[in-house]
Amino acid sequence: MFTRRGFAAMIAAGLTEAAFAQRAAVPGAAPADTVWLNGNEFPEGPPQASIEVMARAITESNRYHYQEFPAFYASLAASHGLKAEQVLVGAGSSEILHAAVDAFTSPTVPFITPWPTYEAAPELAAFAGHRVIKTSLNAAHAFDVHRLAAEAEKAGGGLIYLCNPNNPTSTITTHDDIAWLVANLPKNTYLLVDEAYLHYANSPQAASAMPYVKEGKNVIVSRTFSKIYAMAGLRVGYAAARPDLIDRMAPYRNNVISFVSARAVLAALDLGPKLIEERSAKIGRTRAELCSWLTTKGFRFIPPQANFVMIETAREAREMQASMLAKGVAIGRPFPPLNTMIRVSIGTDAEMAKFRHVLSELTSA
Ligand SMILES: Cc1ncc(COP(=O)(O)O)c(C=O)c1O
Repeated sequence: MFTRRGFAAMIAAGLTEAAFAQRAAVPGAAPADTVWLNGNEFPEGPPQASIEVMARAITESNRYHYQEFPAFYASLAASHGLKAEQVLVGAGSSEILHAAVDAFTSPTVPFITPWPTYEAAPELAAFAGHRVIKTSLNAAHAFDVHRLAAEAEKAGGGLIYLCNPNNPTSTITTHDDIAWLVANLPKNTYLLVDEAYLHYANSPQAASAMPYVKEGKNVIVSRTFSKIYAMAGLRVGYAAARPDLIDRMAPYRNNVISFVSARAVLAALDLGPKLIEERSAKIGRTRAELCSWLTTKGFRFIPPQANFVMIETAREAREMQASMLAKGVAIGRPFPPLNTMIRVSIGTDAEMAKFRHVLSELTSA
């Protein structure tokens, strides 16, 4: 049973599972054959190689296996050409975002973010009594990096959060804009780039901020295995940053992750870039099909670069969410101030066919 306590308050009270469940909660009972297009997860399972190593690992789970973690850190770091001391692993990237808020913001040092964006970190900062500065999106629903830098300058420093591609708008911040921001970070300012969905971006202007970590800039990149690797339930995310920044965040983590999850990650990394390329291409095809259908039907939407699309429905998102759920399609929560847009995750072709059918029915499109 969920209380009315907010996400950040529940996390602070140690009710972490309840907090996450509340965020994913849907308004009302879901029919048995509901398709789940509300959490931006990958619609199919983890790689077969990961499933096989996990099945074997279960039989060894009477031990802690802490001795495996140095090699795990080294392999994870090496997958980006980094050293083990440049990464920090968490229970999902949620734990990394939490640690960054704790380490780099305070009641006087602000968390600076465009809005709307993924709410977890700004909500946590606000709940902790830390200062939060929100800047609005531009007309193309993209971030204004000059505004972000100006706010940091005015505040005498802070933590700038840049979700790229952004959740919920599915827009990217271009390589040129990020390059400008890194080159113009004001004094005492750190840039946290959340790349949970970067694998799905196919714009030539989309790029990772990892090179800035290698260059030793004030940049922290957050990544997760929850999305394209299809391991949301295994809870593995990580930060990549300069060792001194990693050292500042490390004390704020709660614990180590399960070695079963760590082995699943190693097996997935062993598969190399092909896994990601194939999955990204598949989601990209389904996403393009949805976009051309939306265009044909006259729906306006924000051109997507992640595995979800924001669609204008001219009706309250909360009401659309409930109506679609009643017909067996779970979509994302409302994202104020985009109150008449709905966020739908890209699922399998069959799931998207059901989504199109239900959206047509409800809007007479
Ligand atoms: C942008 C973004 N960052 C981070 C997360 C947290 O995911 P996880 O803790 O599973 O890595 C999410 C989850 O949806 C997200 O959308």
